[in-house]
Amino acid sequence: MKILISGGHGQLGHDVTILLSKNHEVISCDSKELDIGNRRMVEQVVTQHQPEVIVNCAAYTAVDNCETEKELAWRVNALGPENLAVSAETVGSRLIHISTDYVFDGKKATDTSYLEDDQVQPLSEYGKSKLAGEDAIMQFASNPLIMRTAWLYGHKGQNFLKTMLRLALADPTRELKVVNDQYGSLTWTNSLARQIENVLSADIKGIVHATATGASTWYEGACYFLDAMNVPYTLTPCTTAEYPTPAHRPSNSILKNKRLDQAGLSVFQSWQDDIDCFVKAHGAALLQELS
Ligand SMILES: NC(=O)c1ccc[n+]([C@@H]2O[C@H](COP(=O)([O-])OP(=O)(O)OC[C@H]3O[C@@H](n4cnc5c(N)ncnc54)[C@H](OP(=O)(O)O)[C@@H]3O)[C@@H](O)[C@H]2O)c1
Repeated sequence: MKILISGGHGQLGHDVTILLSKNHEVISCDSKELDIGNRRMVEQVVTQHQPEVIVNCAAYTAVDNCETEKELAWRVNALGPENLAVSAETVGSRLIHISTDYVFDGKKATDTSYLEDDQVQPLSEYGKSKLAGEDAIMQFASNPLIMRTAWLYGHKGQNFLKTMLRLALADPTRELKVVNDQYGSLTWTNSLARQIENVLSADIKGIVHATATGASTWYEGACYFLDAMNVPYTLTPCTTAEYPTPAHRPSNSILKNKRLDQAGLSVFQSWQDDIDCFVKAHGAALLQELS
């Protein structure tokens, strides 16, 4: 299969590129080779390659910066998916797009999870721009798959777990406050890449939820990861109110992969197993990189 990947140098794009390249013809583009906010460039690259599938891993993901960099956030997260959907349609490509748990307000009780058809109500500019991207795709593409994921980490780029590791390695006695009242499912980019491969030609369209199973708080996830890395640390649980950020985040970010489960297509494992596999695959390299 011929597959075009946008955002191919991000933490998810990197893992998707490596995995899909094993069995497919992959054209993986960074933001210079394919700026998804540029309609003419998208048209030109899509027309040139005529891919059967486009996987959009590109986004403006700096959640707090989106509050001030609104124009850029909407250009990448809303206009970008629209441009890809329009061009995909002209050459008959299937568009697989990655979206987010932050389309929800998180007000559901934390012993429940969000389903694909639950009401969306983003709290942040990032969530609003990503929701606009979903809407544009549903309007312009006839066979799209929108995969909402959450709390991603991988060995490439920056993420919460790598930040925790870097700080713990720098000074294991330094007390770090970590939010313990937001719940979600830490999801390894490699697992999401495997899930993308598994739906490339599957008969499923519209919106699906795509995260590791089970849930934790940021604090619980950080402790589990640092224990698995066998690195000493001093983490203290705190509330969201004690750790204010420019963007509001949902308290409940737990997504249930209902549609993938029902279709028998899910390849996800628990968030703990995901972290164990991540540590096994990249633990030594992470220690080298972040020490
Ligand atoms: N990270 C999370 O926790 C999380 C949670 C839920 C959903 N998601 C979604 O998962 C997807 C992948 O996220 P990620 O964590 O891999 O993000 P990431 O590491 O920040 O990668 C995003 C990539 O998009 C590229 N990009 C930015 N503007 C672009 C443009 N105009 N045209 C083309 N590429 C552009 C960036 O390239 P440059 O560096 O060159 O700008 C970067 O390589 C995104 O859709 C994100 O919204 C992420």
